[in-house]
Order: sequence, then C-alpha cells, then structure tokens
Amino acid sequence: MKISVIGTGYVGTVSAACFAELGHEVICVDIEPLKIDMLNRGVPPIYEDGLSELLEKHVGKNLSATSDYDFAINNSEVSFICVGTPSNQDGKIDLAIVKAASASIGKSLRKKKGYHVIVVKSTVVPETTEKGVLPIIENQSGKKLGEFGIAMNPEFLREGKAVHDFMHPDKIVVGSLDKRSGDIVASLYSGINCEVTRTNPRTAEMIKYVNNAFLATKISFSNEVGNICKELGIDTYEVMKAVGKDFRIGPHFLNSGAGFGGSCFPKDVKALIGKAHDVGYEPTLLRSVMAVNEIQPLRMITLLKNKLPDLKGKKIAVLGLAFKNDTDDIRESRSIPVIKELIEEGAQVCAYDKMAIESMKRIFPDIEYCNSAIDVLRGSDACLIMTEWGEFKSLDKEFNVMKNRLVIDGRHMQSPRKDVDYVGLCW
Ligand code: UDX
Repeated sequence: MKISVIGTGYVGTVSAACFAELGHEVICVDIEPLKIDMLNRGVPPIYEDGLSELLEKHVGKNLSATSDYDFAINNSEVSFICVGTPSNQDGKIDLAIVKAASASIGKSLRKKKGYHVIVVKSTVVPETTEKGVLPIIENQSGKKLGEFGIAMNPEFLREGKAVHDFMHPDKIVVGSLDKRSGDIVASLYSGINCEVTRTNPRTAEMIKYVNNAFLATKISFSNEVGNICKELGIDTYEVMKAVGKDFRIGPHFLNSGAGFGGSCFPKDVKALIGKAHDVGYEPTLLRSVMAVNEIQPLRMITLLKNKLPDLKGKKIAVLGLAFKNDTDDIRESRSIPVIKELIEEGAQVCAYDKMAIESMKRIFPDIEYCNSAIDVLRGSDACLIMTEWGEFKSLDKEFNVMKNRLVIDGRHMQSPRKDVDYVGLCW
C-alpha cells in the first residue's frame, strides 16, 4: 500500500524504512528541510542499527521524503503520525506537535478524493486519538469519520534496536473505531509473522503506557530491593537471577543500577501519572517509581562521599554519559544529576563516553571531556561508572593510572578486585 509517515525521528524514520522493506511505497514528511534532504540522500537523520542499509536499499525506489503535506496525503492511502510527545513543565503530555500534524493532515485531506486512514503511532495518553486527533481532522478536512478512517497503532521500539524490534515484534496492536480502518492498518503488517491484537483506540493507547510503565516499575523495584540488599551485604544480581526464574516474573529488566533514562520511560510514566490525576485517581505506585528513579543516581554520590567526604577540588572521572549503551542519546540520562551534584560539591569533573560527549557538552560545556577511558581515569581520585557500555566491563590496567583507585560502579560493569577499592551501587 501507499503510506505517508509524518515525523522523521527514530520512530518515524524506522517505521518508514521498515514499511518500505515490507514492500510498501512510503513517503516521509517532516517540517525540517535538513532531515528531508538527508533522507532523500539515503542518510539516516538518527543512528539506528540496520537503518542506513534499509535507506540505501529503498530511497529513490519506494521510499522518499518531502515537506509537502498535500503531495504526501494525495499520494498515500494511510498516514502515520510519528511526531514527538514531550512532557509539559508539570510532567503531563504535550500534544501540541500531534495536534499540529493532525491539522496539517486534515487540511490536505480536504482536497483529497478517496478514502484515507490516519493512524496515531506517537505515544499518546488514552482518549487522545478519539478526543484530540479525530475532531481536528474532521474540522480541518470538513469530512466526517467514515469518509476517512482513524486508528491507533503504538510502537514498542527500543532505541538502538528499533529496526530489529519493528521487524520482530512480540505484539502488534491496532486500535480502531471501525473494522475497515483496523483491517487496513493490520494488513500493512501482513509481512511480519506476529499476531495482531485488535482493540479500540484508547485501549491501544493504554497498552503502550502500561508496557513502558511496567518496565520502569520493574527497574525501580529492582533498585529499591538493591538499596536494601546493599545495606545487608547482599548482591542484588544474585537475588534477581533466582527471582527471575519464576515464569511469572522473567529474567529481564531486573538489573539494579543508577536508574532508567531515555526519551520514553520518564516521559511516559509522568504522562500516565498526569492522566490518572486528570481522571481523579492518585497513582501512588507510579509516583514512587519516579521517586526511586530520582534518588537512585544520587546514591552514587552518597557512596562516593562515604569514601571521600570532601569532594572539593577532587578529580572525579565519570565513565558513561548516554542514558544507555550503544546510543549518543543523553535524554534523562542518570549521569546528568550526578554531574550536577559533583559540580555543586566543587569536584573537578572529567567525563568520557564513546558516543555521547558532543550531546553532553550542550548541558555541561565547562567540565573536562576525554576521548578514552584511560585518559579520563588518569590522575583521578575516583571514578563513577554511569552507563552500561560493554567496554567498561573489560577495564583492568586502566585503573592503574588513577591517583586513588576508587571505583563506584552504577551499572554492574565490574566486580570487586584486589588492587582497587571497588564499591557496587546495589551489590
Ligand atoms: C524503552 C522500552 O524498552 C521500549 O519498549 C519503548 O518503546 C521505549 O522505551 P529505550 O528507552 O530505548 O526503550 O531503552 P531501554 O533499553 O528500555 O532502557 C531504558 C533505561 O532503563 C536505560 O536507561 C537503561 O539503562 C535502564 N535499564 C534497563 C535499567 O536500569 N535496568 C534494566 O534492567 C534495564
């Protein structure tokens, strides 16, 4: 089928490339000319494993990009809204971009003959598709639902593994108000061997939030258990390895550490808290998931100060800036509150990350950055491991260049060693 994808972030670009791989004709739409130009040259605007190969294969054949909504809507049968849904100051979801995209689609739809389906793929709080997107499209197009279709189709893509996750999903969820719209959207995935869960839009919206909120809850739960274990001299990883054998729990997302970051978990849990509030419910558990995640990175500082009470003038090496390994993304990275606290304590901060240094310079331009782990460790009074980069597992002789071999490990990358004062965050 002919598809248009509105928004070329990691969800939009990956979805467009994967739909093209499934044999569809795809037009990407964005308001940023630079992104359009990069895509039409087959250059991915974001890093995702496997994405550049798909762009090289499909751009100029069945994948293109434009900033022209009229062209995109007139030359497609289905439009996916894949724009950002950031948090407001109060943590609630900001739907401004989704609404702007909906209005642009509606305006173009007014001029189009023939049936068209609009699909919300952006992560939006329950009721958004029906009460936020649908009215805007009806108003702007002058058409009524039935003359066009609407559906909600959430994504469950992990940053850095989004192409893999799109092509190998454990679920495909399609929420629609009518069978025709839902059938059309479900048919787009016929090339993927995965059952399609059919439901209504608000249930599809909620499935996405609950999926992320539960994963975040598992992490905060593991961290709370880890903090208790730490006081008892118990290794949380040993506990969770056994607990994860329970088929009702599973072994994944039980890694205690410095907490969760990224563009999704914090935003989505806060948005769900905000929506619960709007409907008159106080989400105690979800609030505590966020509360644990806020204090977790600061426990790194507590453990550091147990060893070095006065950090003023001390050189502290921060290993890892990205919110997780294999990405340059620092959004909500747990290293941010740690660096902020170190600066406030008067420490001399030096940081290293394989991919995220340029991103972090925008937040902390005045700290020192090094281009390797050994350089950042050289002459340091302590080091904090903040991101689970594989290279930090193999650090060994590099610790010899430290002035004081004190390692506070926030990601279970290392283990106790004879010639280093090693402190695990939850182990
Ligand atoms: C997440 C969800 O996994 C994905 O399904 C959803 O679509 C988007 O949000 P992502 O944010 O890319 O994906 O990262 P993920 O790999 O889930 O890790 C999120 C954060 O949790 C990272 O900061 C990671 O370090 C942390 N984490 C993960 C833990 O602290 N412990 C764990 O056991 C797992």
